[in-house]
Amino acid sequence: MAAWWMTDTAPYPYSQRWLLDLPLPFLSLRRLDRMLMPSPGMRVLEIGPGTGLQSLHVAPQLGERGRLDVVDVQQPMLDHVSARAAKLGVGNIVPTLADAHSLPFEDETFDAAYLVTAIGEIPEPAVTLGELRRVLKPAGRLVVGEFFDRHQIRPARLIAHADSARLHVTQIIGPPFAYYAALRPCGAA
Ligand SMILES: C[S@@+](CC[C@H](N)C(=O)[O-])C[C@H]1O[C@@H](n2cnc3c(N)ncnc32)[C@H](O)[C@@H]1O
Repeated sequence: MAAWWMTDTAPYPYSQRWLLDLPLPFLSLRRLDRMLMPSPGMRVLEIGPGTGLQSLHVAPQLGERGRLDVVDVQQPMLDHVSARAAKLGVGNIVPTLADAHSLPFEDETFDAAYLVTAIGEIPEPAVTLGELRRVLKPAGRLVVGEFFDRHQIRPARLIAHADSARLHVTQIIGPPFAYYAALRPCGAA
């Protein structure tokens, strides 16, 4: 049982979605803004939106000409985000059902990307970081938020994975158990 608990890689269950709406200490939306710097007209990618806690905050900041693509392996999560967006009149969220190990986007598509409490759930995080590196524009930025749970990727491990994906960590805020990291493609100005 303990071994299963530590090694299980199933995505977060939709049946426990209510927990995702609770704000996490240190991983506030204000801190996400500080790291991601969303602005009108940007095209942004979110992996693992869950019920849309971050999506519904970020998308309105991108304006009518901007767009937030949300990618999840679970269709019920995407449907949940879309329903909430429709209710709130947020019209620039585009859902895509896909696995973050292989992103269905052209190279250099996005100005920015982010994942909050999602990368630790992905079985091969370095592969996903490589995919994010590929779909980010050369001057794009990536924000990873991680919180203390059984899937958490600690900062040192994130830095090692990032190196292998030709990304570098430029800033980390928050304690190691609940942090946001900002990453840039290597070679970016
Ligand atoms: C713990 S939830 C986080 C939700 C939201 N970001 C939040 O902080 O409330 C993790 C999300 O990542 C998604 N996910 C897990 N593995 C994935 C994968 N391989 N590709 C895409 N999404 C994945 C899950 O379906 C779930 O929606």
